[in-house]
Amino acid sequence: MQMNEQRVAIVTGANKGLGLAVAENFVKEGKKVVFVIRNKANLEQTRQRFQQEELQKQVMFIQLDVSDINGIKSAVNEVLNEWGRIDILVNNAGIRFETPIEEIDEEEWDQVLSVNLKSTFFFSQAVIPAMKERGWGRIINMSSIGGQAGPLTSGAHYSASKAGQIALSKVFARSLAPYGITVNTVAPAAIRTPEMDKMDPAKLAQMVETIPLRRVGEPREVSDLVSYLASDTGGFTTGATFDINGGRLMR
Ligand SMILES: NC(=O)c1ccc[n+]([C@@H]2O[C@H](COP(=O)([O-])OP(=O)(O)OC[C@H]3O[C@@H](n4cnc5c(N)ncnc54)[C@H](O)[C@@H]3O)[C@@H](O)[C@H]2O)c1
Repeated sequence: MQMNEQRVAIVTGANKGLGLAVAENFVKEGKKVVFVIRNKANLEQTRQRFQQEELQKQVMFIQLDVSDINGIKSAVNEVLNEWGRIDILVNNAGIRFETPIEEIDEEEWDQVLSVNLKSTFFFSQAVIPAMKERGWGRIINMSSIGGQAGPLTSGAHYSASKAGQIALSKVFARSLAPYGITVNTVAPAAIRTPEMDKMDPAKLAQMVETIPLRRVGEPREVSDLVSYLASDTGGFTTGATFDINGGRLMR
């Protein structure tokens, strides 16, 4: 990398939870960061966090529902027009329902698969040409323990979408390795998010009992792992799935 050359990273679902932690970490590291956020109010709220004058050339906000494939293509073009390169993509946006098998209808199935899996494929597909051009790229897919172990607390559609992300990561990793592009999966469980803080304390304590490390994870623990995978030193790692779950799943 040339001196003063800044890498450009796109993070989907970057307004809260893990996505925000990942994007914030990238900003701190001096990367240029594109925050992809579904709704306008959340986008404006997130923009407020990065108002410092010195950050204005380092952050970009794009309103996008990641299940909109044409929207993905426009977003990628917008970033390329503005900043001329895309080095890192974190497919983090996701939705999760706990609907029992018997009650999942086609609409809900399609929604979960679209947001979690279809977007991962098409966003990755859309950034490949820019990464190939530079012979360097990092794609990180935020999957879940749900895609590995099929826990009862996640719907079948959610687990299928998250398992699909793991498979996609391996296919992309193999196909893109000759171009210096690595593709990895992060599989978290029980990481603290605003949603978790709203949980009934007794239920949360019960859940913590099932975690060997007897605590929940912090978003920073996930974002540091993502930063490693997005770095130069992460370059010998591809097609891998990183468990970050307090020991809940050991394999
Ligand atoms: N927190 C955990 O313990 C945990 C565990 C397993 C997996 N994950 C995965 O990590 C990722 C982030 O989860 P989180 O815990 O921060 O959850 P979260 O609900 O706080 O964040 C999800 C983000 O995705 C965005 N999003 C949802 N649908 C979207 C769409 N159609 N278009 C654009 N953005 C959309 C949301 O607005 C939000 O910003 C998800 O993919 C989730 O499945 C998290």
